[in-house]
Amino acid sequence: MNNHWSEYWQQGHTTSFGDALSGNYEGILKSIWQPIFSGLQDGFLAVDIGTGNGSLPLLIRESLEGSDIKGEVVGIDLAEVKLTEKNLAEQSNTAIKLLSNEASESLPFATGTVDLYTSQFGFEYSDIDLSLKEASRVLKDNGQFSLVFHHANSMIINRNRKILRLVEQPEAEQLVTCLSDITVAMGKVSSPNDIARIKQDLNCEKIRAQINRLIKHLVLFDEKAAQDCQLMMFVAQFFKDGLFWPVAKKQQFIEFIKLQMDTLKLRLRELLNASFDEAKLGQFISRFNQNLLSLIELKVLKNEQNEVLAWYLSAQKNNE
Ligand SMILES: C[S@@+](CC[C@H](N)C(=O)[O-])C[C@H]1O[C@@H](n2cnc3c(N)ncnc32)[C@H](O)[C@@H]1O
Repeated sequence: MNNHWSEYWQQGHTTSFGDALSGNYEGILKSIWQPIFSGLQDGFLAVDIGTGNGSLPLLIRESLEGSDIKGEVVGIDLAEVKLTEKNLAEQSNTAIKLLSNEASESLPFATGTVDLYTSQFGFEYSDIDLSLKEASRVLKDNGQFSLVFHHANSMIINRNRKILRLVEQPEAEQLVTCLSDITVAMGKVSSPNDIARIKQDLNCEKIRAQINRLIKHLVLFDEKAAQDCQLMMFVAQFFKDGLFWPVAKKQQFIEFIKLQMDTLKLRLRELLNASFDEAKLGQFISRFNQNLLSLIELKVLKNEQNEVLAWYLSAQKNNE
């Protein structure tokens, strides 16, 4: 799974919301952390799990700006992650270190050394039993364990569930196959004469009609999801920018579309599997006791439109 995340983080995103969030988290996904971060004491060690390019470590740094509290945040991730040059260069009392290729199931920290264990949309992708045990091992007595994690009925999950249903339709795959077929049927297209030739070609017209039928089917199936997934944009690009490309370049582009669609399906299946419904949450919390954790707070986070965004959970390591 870490390959597609590595590719994603290499594009320089700060959060897992891609272009939908140009900077770091805002709103409730930021403010929920403020009281926790402002409770950090001098000399603290905080660990952020599934950190990506360090969105939460950067929020810790921001929230302690101007205070005398010094400490270290170590973000760990299975994927290749890094801070941007600008974030690296920034002087601060909060030292940030991101460790790539590290798993939450086996952390590179000594027992009883961590004051704060956090994760935002990261922990739930891991083996949660092993990660919980490991969190308890590294936390100090009274150390804090705080997670924001995917809710099975959030707007994020619902939107992505619809996109997955759409791209799993056989018609989505047929559409890409039709692009390959029409590439071969059209042959070299380099002038308006070629366009006139293609329009007269029965096979090309047949495939074009099939492409239109498939697009119509997908849009009728779920118009919003069709807009949200990139497939329609790729098809439009193929006919708009790509019509005069050489055959080999068209075929390369089609291979690229296939790869994008496969990665999208993989990513969305992982996301849906990672999300927590009430039953999964109940089971998770039932393991706190054996891991020496006491639940302090559990709530559903909502946005300004009152839509569900995520679960928030906070616990404390018991004093042995
Ligand atoms: C949805 S991203 C969240 C990134 C970041 N916390 C954010 O909110 O923007 C999930 C991250 O968890 C990482 N991840 C998945 N399983 C992991 C594991 N077992 N240990 C550490 N990181 C993991 C992935 O590589 C990915 O970068």
